[in-house]
Amino acid sequence: MIRTHGLTKVFHSFGSKDVVAVDHIDFDVERGDIFGFLGPNGAGKTTTIRMLTAILSPTSGTATVAGYDIIKEPMKVKQNMGFMPETLGFYDEMRAIDLLEFYAKFYKIPRSERRKRAKELLRLVGLSKVAYRRAGAYSHGMRKRLALAQAIINEPELLILDEPTGGLDPQGTQNFREMIHDLHKRGITIFLSSHILPEIQQICNKVCILNKSKVVVVDTIDNLTKTIRSKVEAHIVIEANMLNDEVLEEIRKIDGVLDVELDNGKIDIVTRGDMDISPDINSLLVNKGVRVRTIQTQEPDLEEIFLSLTKGD
Ligand SMILES: Nc1ncnc2c1ncn2[C@@H]1O[C@H](COP(=O)(O)OP(=O)(O)OP(=O)(O)O)[C@@H](O)[C@H]1O
Ligand SMILES: [Mg+2]
Repeated sequence: MIRTHGLTKVFHSFGSKDVVAVDHIDFDVERGDIFGFLGPNGAGKTTTIRMLTAILSPTSGTATVAGYDIIKEPMKVKQNMGFMPETLGFYDEMRAIDLLEFYAKFYKIPRSERRKRAKELLRLVGLSKVAYRRAGAYSHGMRKRLALAQAIINEPELLILDEPTGGLDPQGTQNFREMIHDLHKRGITIFLSSHILPEIQQICNKVCILNKSKVVVVDTIDNLTKTIRSKVEAHIVIEANMLNDEVLEEIRKIDGVLDVELDNGKIDIVTRGDMDISPDINSLLVNKGVRVRTIQTQEPDLEEIFLSLTKGD
C-alpha cells in the first residue's frame, strides 16, 4: 500500500544551515497492516507523512501510495487515501455537518448523498449529538473526531493518521483506538505516527522506528518486542522462608537465570528479558519446600528501551 524508495527531504532556509528532515528512508506497508511510524519529536514523521500525502515534494527518492507515484500522480494519491493531519484546521464558523458536506463535494459525492454521508460519518465518530454545532465551538477531542470523519469521507482503502491521539485524555485515546480497530476491520490499511511506544504496541502489527531523520528499524511488533527483550534483563524478586544456599544454587542452574542475589531476606533473580522462567522457579521452590510470601516479576520497561534506541548519537 505504501512503498518508499530513498525518500529524502532537505529544507533550505536562507541564512541558516540546511535541515535534513528525512534521510533516505525505505519501508513497505502491506495491505491489511496497521503500521506504526514511531519516533521522538523532530525525527521526521510529519515531514515523511506530508510527502506521502503529496503535500510536500521530496528532495530525492520517491514513494508509491495506494499504487500511485507521489511525484508523478499526486492527485491520484490524494484521491485514493484518507489523511488526518497533526494540526487541524477547519472553517470554524461552519457547523460540523456542513463542513463534512463541503468536503464531500471535493470528492464529487452527489449532492443528494452528501448529507446522509455526513450524518453517517458523524455517527461513526460519536459526534451525532453535536452535529449542528460550529467547529469553532468543538473541544480538542471533538476536533480530532471530526478530522477522522473528514479523513474517511472518500471511503479510502488507506488511512494515514499523524499523531491521532495527541492531546486526548485516556478515555478519548481508548475510544480512538477502538475506532481505528473498527476501520481496520472494515478492510482499511492504517498508517499512523506516534511518539508513544505503548500506543504503537497496542494497536499496530508492524512498526518503523525513525530517529534523527533515519530509519532505525522496521519489523513486526512481535519480532521487535523479542529483539529488544533479548537485549535487556528482567528481575524476579521473591520473599520466602526456609531459603538456603542449596536452593540458591539450584535457581542458578535454571536456563535463563543470569544472576541470583540474597538481599535482606529477598532473593533477586536476574533473568533474560525474553524468557519467562517464573514457572520453573516456582516449581523448584515448591519441590524444595520453600514457603513463598511474595513473588514479583519486573518486566523490562519498553519505554526505556525505546529511549535508549533513539537517544544520543
Ligand atoms: N517547513 C520546514 N522548514 C524547515 N524545517 C522544517 C520544516 N518542517 C520540519 N522541519 C524540520 O524537520 C525536522 C523534522 O520535523 P517533523 O515535523 O517531520 O518531525 P516529527 O517527527 O513529526 O516531530 P513531532 O513528534 O514533534 O511532531 C525538524 O528538525 C523540523 O524542525
Ligand atoms: Mg509531527
